[in-house]
Amino acid sequence: MHNIRNVTGRVIYVGGNDRRCQIFEGKYPVSSGMAYNSYLIKGEVNILVDTADASIAGLFLENVQAALNGDSLNYVVVQHMEPDHSATLMSILSKYPEAKVITSPKSVPMIKQFFGNDISGRLVPAVEGEPFEAPGVTLDFINAPMVHWPEVIMTYFREEKVFFSADAFGSFGALEGRIVMDPSVYDTYVDEARRYYTNIVGKYGAQVQMALKKASAFDIEWIAPLHGYIWKDGKELILDSYGKWSTFTPEVKGVCIIAGSVYGNTLQAAEILAAEVCAAGGDAVVIDTSVKHWSYAVACAYKYSAFAIVAATNDGGIFAPAEHAVRALAAHGVKGRKAAYIDNGTWAAVAGKQITDIISGMKDVSVSENSFSIKSSLTADDLPKIRALAAEMISDP
Ligand SMILES: Cc1cc2nc3c(=O)[nH]c(=O)nc-3n(C[C@H](O)[C@H](O)[C@H](O)COP(=O)(O)O)c2cc1C
Ligand SMILES: [Fe+2]
Ligand SMILES: [Fe+2]
Repeated sequence: MHNIRNVTGRVIYVGGNDRRCQIFEGKYPVSSGMAYNSYLIKGEVNILVDTADASIAGLFLENVQAALNGDSLNYVVVQHMEPDHSATLMSILSKYPEAKVITSPKSVPMIKQFFGNDISGRLVPAVEGEPFEAPGVTLDFINAPMVHWPEVIMTYFREEKVFFSADAFGSFGALEGRIVMDPSVYDTYVDEARRYYTNIVGKYGAQVQMALKKASAFDIEWIAPLHGYIWKDGKELILDSYGKWSTFTPEVKGVCIIAGSVYGNTLQAAEILAAEVCAAGGDAVVIDTSVKHWSYAVACAYKYSAFAIVAATNDGGIFAPAEHAVRALAAHGVKGRKAAYIDNGTWAAVAGKQITDIISGMKDVSVSENSFSIKSSLTADDLPKIRALAAEMISDP
């Protein structure tokens, strides 16, 4: 059975949830599943804005059919070619053979690569600065390269002031009944929105800034992303968060402590460091990489003004789950943070040196000289070192 909802008078939500998706994009745990949003603009001409993931193909096709209610589909806007939004494109194009494809010319070879089909004959190029006009509908496009694929476009529907923002302003997680964000629950929502942003597009902050600047030219009433809730009231909350995240501005003065420990001795150093940071007036969180996925470490490093890697040496290297997390920080563009390590070794502690090497590739991040090594377990001599490190990590630059 279809499940469609009106967003505005003419925009209908035709996407859906995959609650059984536990791992998104093959690597991100999503405990409450994923939403794949898609929208139908109705009127004299009917325009579908993006398709949906293969996992909800049946529901999606039914939703589109129900929303069309016997009318024909004239256009499909393909804002980017990532399969979570384009896997059902060919099903739509064969079901509605008269539909044309509005997309960036950069998508055309990608469509061929993914599906083997040349859609050039059905192409209406989406060009920034050249609005698409049809009876009752005007669409403006902006190019948003690397937010987060190179061919990304975002779309503004002038008549109803709806900004279709592709993957930007999205989140992990299924939609719970409502499709429009209730700003009073933003505090509980923002953590997953941050984890989504920092892991999916975080590295491309400059490109996000550029897209935000271009979008600011539109009079936006609604923001309609491809995942997570639609924004109307309170959209300044997510715009404000994006402003911080895309400029790598810390939200909290404190330390994100990323811990890696086999038997718990190194983990105890992380706990004591957290307590000392809080005692000194900062805020702290411990990510135990044995039980917490590295994507949480990435989000946490964006949120806090400093991060510390507290990790055991294993087989001449960094304890593997912690190493994965540090490399993820570097790969996801964390920059402009205070950093430190506490490593542990029973015979030759080398994790700290290797952590320092990874961090040296990060912009505006250097490793504190108060970083130090533990030998197997903490002693009373280590406590003042932890205290000094805590104080330095939350001191003003
Ligand atoms: C599988 C394994 C490999 C280890 N390899 C090293 C090593 O190469 N060099 C070293 O100094 N310590 C090594 N250690 C010791 C740890 O670095 C650490 O001192 C010890 O596990 C206690 O800390 P923990 O309780 O946080 O695990 C190893 C420990 C384990 C379990
Ligand atoms: Fe995407
Ligand atoms: Fe997506």
